[in-house]
Amino acid sequence: MSDKLRLGVAGCGKISRVSHVPGFLKVPGVEIAALCDSDRGRMDEVCKEHKIQPALFSDYAEMLKSGLDAVAICTPNFLHKDMSLAAFAAGLHVLCEKPMAATLPEATTMIRAARKAKKVLQINQSVRYSGLYVTIGELIKSGAIGEPFHIRCIRAGGNTPDKGWSPGATWFVSKASQGGLVLDIGIHMADMMEWVMGGEVEKIAALVDTRTQGIDVPDNVSALFRFRNGATGILELSWTMPSGAGVLEIYGSQGRIRQGATEKPIELTRIVDGKSEVTFPEQKPGIKDSFAAFADAIHGVAPSPTSGEMGRNALALCDAIAKSGGTGRFVKVQKFAR
Ligand SMILES: NC(=O)c1ccc[n+]([C@@H]2O[C@H](COP(=O)([O-])OP(=O)(O)OC[C@H]3O[C@@H](n4cnc5c(N)ncnc54)[C@H](O)[C@@H]3O)[C@@H](O)[C@H]2O)c1
Repeated sequence: MSDKLRLGVAGCGKISRVSHVPGFLKVPGVEIAALCDSDRGRMDEVCKEHKIQPALFSDYAEMLKSGLDAVAICTPNFLHKDMSLAAFAAGLHVLCEKPMAATLPEATTMIRAARKAKKVLQINQSVRYSGLYVTIGELIKSGAIGEPFHIRCIRAGGNTPDKGWSPGATWFVSKASQGGLVLDIGIHMADMMEWVMGGEVEKIAALVDTRTQGIDVPDNVSALFRFRNGATGILELSWTMPSGAGVLEIYGSQGRIRQGATEKPIELTRIVDGKSEVTFPEQKPGIKDSFAAFADAIHGVAPSPTSGEMGRNALALCDAIAKSGGTGRFVKVQKFAR
C-alpha cells in the first residue's frame, strides 16, 4: 500500500454524494483515487460538488484494475454481493452499503470471501455510528431504566425513496433490484432495536403490505419481536404515512426512554421513591464515523465496528420479517454461525 489509501467509489448517486465522498475526504491518509458509475453525469456532478479529480470509470471491473487498495460500494442493492466478491478477488478491502446482500447465504459467501482474501469487509450500518442511538444504548446498559422489557420503534415517511430521497431511483421500489422498505429502513431499525436492548431477538412475526400503486415491494411493515430474554419489541415502518413519524420508546422495570416525543432528543423518565422524575440526558457525539473506522480497520488500528458478521445479523432480522410476512407465523432469526 502506498502512503495514501487509494479508494474507489462505485456508484455516484445520493449516498455517495452526501455521505461517502465528503466523509472520506475528511479522513487523513485516504485519497479518492477513482469513481465509477454507469451514468457519466453522476460522476461529473460528484467531482464538481466536491472539487475532486479522480480517475473516472463506467466499468467497475476496469476500476478494480486501476491500482486501488479499497472500494466503497454505493450502488443499488442487487449489485452489492457481486461487486464485493469481485473486489476481494482483486485483493481490495470493501466498505459495502447496507443491505450487504439480499439473502443470508449470499451474506455468508461475502464474509467467507473477505476472510479468505484477508481483507476488511465493513457494512455501512450507519445508524450504529449515530450519537443518538449510542447514547440511548449506553443509558440502557448503565441501568438507567432498570431491566428493559419492551421497545417500540416507529419510522414512517410519506414517500417511497424514488420520490423523496433519490428522485428517479426506481430500483428502491423494485423487487428484482432487491428494493423495499424492509431492506431499506428495516435493516437499520431492527438492528438498532436489538443493539440498544442488549439482547438477541429470537423470533419475529410480521405483517408486510404494499399500499403504493404500481410497485412490487413492501412499503408498510408491522413486526413483533420476541427477545431470547423474554423482552418484546414492536417495529412499525411505512413509506405511506402522509405526516411521517419517528418515535423510539424503551420501557424498563424502573423507567422509560423516549426519543422523538419532545423537542429534546432524549427524554428519560425514572421512578424514584415512587415518583416520576423526568430528565433530558445530553446526546453524545457518536463514535468515529464509518469512513474513519474503515480506514482504521484496514490499518489494523481497531476492528470495524460494523463488520460483515454484524451486517449479516441485521439481514437475519430482515429475513425473518420478510419470511413471516409471507407465512403469518413467528419465524426464528437465523444468526450467523462461523
Ligand atoms: N447507510 C444508509 O443510511 C444509506 C442511506 C441511503 C442509501 N443507502 C444505500 O446506498 C446504496 C445506494 O443508494 P443511493 O440512495 O445512493 O441510490 P442512487 O440510486 O441515488 O445511486 C445509485 C448509483 O449507482 C449507479 N449505478 C447503478 N448501476 C451501476 C453499475 N453497474 N456500476 C456503477 N454504478 C452503477 C447509478 O447510476 C446511481 O448513480 C443502496 O444500497 C442504499 O440502500 C444507505
